[in-house]
Amino acid sequence: MDWSESTRRVFLKQFGAAGAAALAASRANGLAMPAGQGAQAPAAQSALTATDQKQAATREARMAWWHEAKFGMFIHWGLYSVIGQHEWVKEHQGVPIPQYEILAKHFHPKPNAARDWARLAKRAGQKYMVMTTKHHEGFCNWDTKLTNYNAMQQGPGRDLVREYVEAARAEGLRVGFYYSLMDWHHPDGARCKTDEAARRRFVDYTHGLIRELMTNYGKIDILWYDVDWPLTADEWESERMNEMVFSLQPEIIVNNRNGLQGDFSTPEQHIQASKAGRAWETCMTLNESWGFNRTDNQWKTPKTIVNNLITCARGGGNYLLNIGPEPDGSVPPASVEILEAVGKWMDTNGKTIYGSERMYAEGYALVNFTRKGNTLYVHVYNWPGHTPAAEWLDFYKPEAVVAIGGLKPKVLSARVLKTGQKVEFTQDEFSFRLTGLPMVALDQPATTIEVQCDGEPIVDHSAMRPLWPRYKVGISI
Ligand code: GLC
Repeated sequence: MDWSESTRRVFLKQFGAAGAAALAASRANGLAMPAGQGAQAPAAQSALTATDQKQAATREARMAWWHEAKFGMFIHWGLYSVIGQHEWVKEHQGVPIPQYEILAKHFHPKPNAARDWARLAKRAGQKYMVMTTKHHEGFCNWDTKLTNYNAMQQGPGRDLVREYVEAARAEGLRVGFYYSLMDWHHPDGARCKTDEAARRRFVDYTHGLIRELMTNYGKIDILWYDVDWPLTADEWESERMNEMVFSLQPEIIVNNRNGLQGDFSTPEQHIQASKAGRAWETCMTLNESWGFNRTDNQWKTPKTIVNNLITCARGGGNYLLNIGPEPDGSVPPASVEILEAVGKWMDTNGKTIYGSERMYAEGYALVNFTRKGNTLYVHVYNWPGHTPAAEWLDFYKPEAVVAIGGLKPKVLSARVLKTGQKVEFTQDEFSFRLTGLPMVALDQPATTIEVQCDGEPIVDHSAMRPLWPRYKVGISI
């Protein structure tokens, strides 16, 4: 179990001796933290370098807006969008370079596509955007001077990165650049591993491209590196890379995918909290592909997205949710629909997400949680309504009941966030019961109940497990 000292102290204070026993038991069993609290050991994390240490000194100030923001939009858009069969199509299908390059002539985005993304992000409650400036395919979406394989000199005839930057700023959103180190197009992109002259050229090219991005577009808020194949951090000269980035953009934040620790970890397609004190962001697709994929209709529901966002916030992390626009820049209608539903929920419930704090809690089948100070937000995403058991069990009266095992500390008041309606409750050592709730959920996809506590809320039903009175029903010893 990996646990910060302060969280451990809060837990012990609130659960007292029972907590100490449970803690000892969980240590003995080698149990992990509840979901969203576990330690993460990202593969790409090397030891702290001098650059990492320098960044650490300014990290808190640089990242304050990002921690507050919680929710961002990822955009994967490039030549692969023209084929519409996932962004790895070149490699997955073995498309030869001379064939693939033809796509560059047939990439014709409509004017101002990025404005629609930025407006959509705003409606969804997202506070920042991260767009692919260059994906693994090697095509540069901006007006680079280092290759003619770029949007200005090919089909689009425009600087798509500039349009994106302007669109995000117009909506008051923070601006992030995704940049893939791996390059399937550049002649040195693979042989750089075994040929020193090629490595020199390719590293200079890479640093040069990043320098352009960090120089020509004003203040950039995030640099989101991706796949560092085939080189190591030393071979990429990643320390020097980050030094350059920070000298040009002193307030930027960078991720950990250039082989250094950077400012935050990047669990992909799953939610995994880092150790307390380490920032993290889960990136996730809305269907199963990052780039536009015509026939991928495995869309997540707004309920799944809202619940994922809550789980990220509960673990102190961010949620970077992807759209894969069509080649003309239109956002697939299914993505628009999902994001608008999420945005509608955020209109009422955003205050329970933005600026929320990492929480020690286990979610369960009906509810999830976020917290701010001593305020607990109970997000009921499977509304209980009526249970036939209410006929026999007082526990479920008066219906409807939302019950939470293992909540500490004492609750002072509760109300439905959306309507302000006061909610009756009972609380004992084991269970906190919100009672007399309507049969039908008051909000979709989750109804939030705001609960004021007299200390920092913690929810840990498994800590109570050893302490339950056991009544030996049907056992004659
Ligand atoms: C992976 C994929 C890539 C995608 C990225 C997003 O590394 O290679 O296609 O851009 O994840 O996190």
